Amino acid sequence: MKEKKKAVAKEPAIRLVMMPKYTNPDGDIFGGIILSMIDEAAAVEAQRQGHHRYVTVAMDSIQFHRPVRVGDIVSLWCKTIKIGTSSLQIQIEVMANPRRTDENYTVTEATVTMVAINENREPVPIHS
Ligand SMILES: CC(C)(COP(=O)(O)OP(=O)(O)OC[C@H]1O[C@@H](n2cnc3c(N)ncnc32)[C@H](O)[C@@H]1OP(=O)(O)O)[C@@H](O)C(=O)NCCC(=O)NCCS
Repeated sequence: MKEKKKAVAKEPAIRLVMMPKYTNPDGDIFGGIILSMIDEAAAVEAQRQGHHRYVTVAMDSIQFHRPVRVGDIVSLWCKTIKIGTSSLQIQIEVMANPRRTDENYTVTEATVTMVAINENREPVPIHS
């Protein structure tokens, strides 16, 4: 019988202060940085569900709702929404807390699919 997926994490997979080195030429945080953090957060969440080597096979429904700025504290919240045989579908919500404020709002959302693989890079069951 398959193990049940673990409940929603009580803390973000990743929390990071946005530094000037992450900006695009216009001074906002580069979208590629956010995507990279989403990929890392999905990997952290995947380990919570089962200890394997994972690869990212798909990133879907990526929506950049609001810009992220230097100094924002960015938190990535993950929720596993589907466990297949070797794949996990993880919903990611990126929240920004602008510097010296109590504001906290959603800036980006995405769904990431990770696949557990073995040393030959073949898919393996997450829960055997
Ligand atoms: C991930 C990988 C091993 C899957 O290999 P594959 O031959 O497609 O394997 P399968 O067809 O058996 O699919 C394996 C699982 O992935 C899922 N999958 C494959 N392609 C997918 C896609 N585009 N979107 C969502 N899920 C996908 C399948 O539904 C299956 O899920 P399940 O086992 O839960 O039913 C292979 O595609 C790969 O190595 N991709 C490159 C990964 C990579 O380098 N990522 C970037 C760096 S981490």
